Amino acid sequence: VLRMMDVPLKGKRVLIREDLNVPMNDAGAITDDTRIRASLPTIRAALAGGARVMLMSHLGRPKEGVFDEKASLAPVAAHLSQLLGRDVPLVRDWLDAGKDRLAQLQDGDVVVLENVRFNTGESTDDEALSKKMAALCDVFVMDAFGTAHRAQASTHGVGRFAPVACAGPLLVNELDALGKALQNPRRPLVAIVAGSKVSTKLTILKSLADKVDQLVVGGGIANTFILAAGHSVGKSLCEADLVPDAQAIIAAARAKGGDVPLPSDVVVAKAFSETAPARTCRVDDIAADDMVLDIGPDTAKTLGDILRKAGTIVWNGPVGVFEFDAFARGTEAIARAVAESSAFSIAGGGDTIAAINKFHIEDKVSYISTGGGAFLEFLEGKTLPAVAMLEERARGTHT
Ligand code: 3PG
Repeated sequence: VLRMMDVPLKGKRVLIREDLNVPMNDAGAITDDTRIRASLPTIRAALAGGARVMLMSHLGRPKEGVFDEKASLAPVAAHLSQLLGRDVPLVRDWLDAGKDRLAQLQDGDVVVLENVRFNTGESTDDEALSKKMAALCDVFVMDAFGTAHRAQASTHGVGRFAPVACAGPLLVNELDALGKALQNPRRPLVAIVAGSKVSTKLTILKSLADKVDQLVVGGGIANTFILAAGHSVGKSLCEADLVPDAQAIIAAARAKGGDVPLPSDVVVAKAFSETAPARTCRVDDIAADDMVLDIGPDTAKTLGDILRKAGTIVWNGPVGVFEFDAFARGTEAIARAVAESSAFSIAGGGDTIAAINKFHIEDKVSYISTGGGAFLEFLEGKTLPAVAMLEERARGTHT
């Protein structure tokens, strides 16, 4: 695809789609600015290139067609002003009355356009809306990896009609890191896919079973695999109807010379509670009224050894209820092993990043993705619509 770095930006009206969809508390304060910080190199590069920068993003999931103060990007614009050390005005009604303000932009100016999801037609990738957006710019830069799995007007449609459409540095970095991990990985390639349900990650598990050397499962997903191995999991979260899928995934991994290492021991409790007494037992000793809430120490050691020997690690999902201290040791052991491993490691997803922060290994992971849903869809092997659009533009074809 065409890259922003290869496009002359001096004096150009440059419309950049970022993913500035950050978590906020009830008082409207930003509680985690990772995504805003991740967009800074792109914004700085465009400004240094002499562009007239308009930043687009969504925030939350407001009702289309109406203004909703709670979903306003005003706090994001204010935070960007601080981080960039310059005024970053927020422009409302930017497709109508606010257009005059955009026409006055000078080289090196930057503004934030109010939440794209206030525009009718955004979520349906409406052509008329996409054309209006495209008319605002000379160059459209798609940089929102976190929203690249959405075919919406501001991520996809606008790029079809803009005079020039290119990929921003953040998007390029994300695709490079994920490509390095999955397309031509240093072996052994180990994936950790954990979380509550097999059903939500079935496609990922199937797609990875073909590619990886070791597919580590954890959380509720592991319970379904333990069941598939013929053990009882008591009253643990599991999906009995997906046992055949779990068996097929194990068979597929083995057919390629890989494996799905199953837990040999687990930490159980009688209730899903921070204060429930924890007991460690073998997988064939789970009682009928037990809930599995973490992997046990023997399993943590086995998996730690696998991770320390890995050439590449892809991590999505905590292996236990790490929010509760009594059930956090498994996830902590995984985090430590990822940190100690010399593998190229990539992690993504909200819970995984929360675990990485909790155990302070941020600096030890090679690449932390800004994508949630987009990261998962990439792991599923899907083509991200915004990326497909850039590829079509680069080939000179349109959809
Ligand atoms: C995310 O947080 O995963 C992205 O910003 C996409 O948001 P969405 O799921 O509301 O489209």
